[in-house]
Amino acid sequence: MPTQRKNSRNTRRRKTPELLFGDLWEFDPAPESADPKLKESYSLYIDGQQSAPKSRKYFESINPGTEKALTRIPAAGKADVNDAFSAATNGLNKYWSKLSGKDRGKYLYRIARLLQDRAREFAVAESLDGGKPIKESRDFDIPMAAAHFFYYAGWADKLEYALPGGSYSPYGVVGQIIPWNFPLLMLAWKIAPALATGNCVVIKPAETTSITALKFAEILQEAELPPGVVNIVSGAGATGQLIVNHPAAKKIAFTGSTDVGKAIMRATAGTGKGLTLELGGKAANIVFEDAPIDQAVEGVINGIFFNQGHVCCAGSRLLIQESIAKTFVQKLKTRIASLRVGNPLDKNTDIGAINSKEQLDKINDLVKSGVKEGAELFQSSCSLPGQGWFFRPSLFDGVTQSHRIAREEIFGPVLSILTFRTVSEAIEKANNTAYGLSAGVWTDKGSKILKMSTALKAGVVWANTYNKFDPTSPFGGYKESGCGREGGKQGICDYLKVEY
Ligand code: NAI
Ligand code: MG
Repeated sequence: MPTQRKNSRNTRRRKTPELLFGDLWEFDPAPESADPKLKESYSLYIDGQQSAPKSRKYFESINPGTEKALTRIPAAGKADVNDAFSAATNGLNKYWSKLSGKDRGKYLYRIARLLQDRAREFAVAESLDGGKPIKESRDFDIPMAAAHFFYYAGWADKLEYALPGGSYSPYGVVGQIIPWNFPLLMLAWKIAPALATGNCVVIKPAETTSITALKFAEILQEAELPPGVVNIVSGAGATGQLIVNHPAAKKIAFTGSTDVGKAIMRATAGTGKGLTLELGGKAANIVFEDAPIDQAVEGVINGIFFNQGHVCCAGSRLLIQESIAKTFVQKLKTRIASLRVGNPLDKNTDIGAINSKEQLDKINDLVKSGVKEGAELFQSSCSLPGQGWFFRPSLFDGVTQSHRIAREEIFGPVLSILTFRTVSEAIEKANNTAYGLSAGVWTDKGSKILKMSTALKAGVVWANTYNKFDPTSPFGGYKESGCGREGGKQGICDYLKVEY
């Protein structure tokens, strides 16, 4: 039962005059209690072994909800990355290339099942290390990661149906670099299709969220995956560069910032390496006057506040038809005021911690620019924990297309609102961005959905919903959002060299 109480640890509490949420009903704490089974210090995973880094360097992984260190993570150096690629080449020649698709599939099924067995443990580890609410890691990240292994397990012996009549072969050894916003899920997006298609892998997690990737090594050992098929090397950007430039890497798959993506494109140009880039976004979530309004409010909230807004496909630009703008924005403000910000491990938390101090600084900087450039800021008056990196759910009204907050990826819980009058104006404004990853359309009219989804230059267009994912559905961008597709049949094709 919810009890009405004032949180004594509240700091920086602000009143929002137009709303009566000062005395918000609060739930009692409901912390998730599963043991994440963290070690004091982690190892690299090379050639089927957990090994100390030859670099002898480690860094701390911080819990963004408390700012305290959780464990020590190895920083792989040149000798370690060389070892990982030798192991992968060996794993490919000795084991993986000798297995049938059916047998590769069996390993993927086994990995998926083992991940399901340890889902709660992984969910807690993910929320502790990255700051995301436990309800998201528990109900989205971990189950979706398992689902990707199940899905690509099914493809492993059916590749000829993905490319009927075609001649194709795996790249061989692939280098993969993943970001911090969906650590284990991005690992699954990368490893599952690569293994299904017969490739071996050297993968690097992001430096603020390495724990679940290094725990995943335990699953690979339990699954008795042959040595060298997957190698996990932790470290920061310098380790990533070593992977990108390694001559044994025949393809690079990267998810992260557009700046680093461009650098990788330059580094691989002319080398013959395959490349998949999944980069940033500045999606338009477009609400027409004929939309189911309350449903659209929920969709816009989910579109921007899911995972603290650390989502490349976040609906970070709301385009609202002028006739309903006032009502809609008021409803959004009311809904924002009821979002619970706080302890990521609390089952009632809607918005957890910002992943790192650097990311919090970046959000603060962009929000300041929005105020300075003349947009109107509204923030929830909710309480924030005294420790940890948190940011109030926020929206900017009266944003124009030239504002930085309309053009740059904030990657935080901040919505920028623009208005439009006609369908063609909505299309023009939605496409007026350097990115092209995703978009949302809210309308009662099927014909409008079809017109918009054709006209919008975005890899994914959601209609009357947002942030829905499925392993069968390809995902990827246009323009500065990257190239190549992950997920679905297309995700298979991007891990095969095809001869036509
Ligand atoms: P980042 O692009 O630097 O990091 C992503 C991954 O790339 C990490 O594993 C990192 O260690 C690695 N990396 C960094 N520099 C590298 C290099 N030169 N060569 C190879 N690998 C390298 O992203 P960062 O700095 O953590 O975040 C900055 C901004 O990027 C965010 O504010 C957000 O706007 C955007 N971003 C977008 C993501 C997406 O899913 N599209 C994910 C993460 C960040
Ligand atoms: Mg961390």
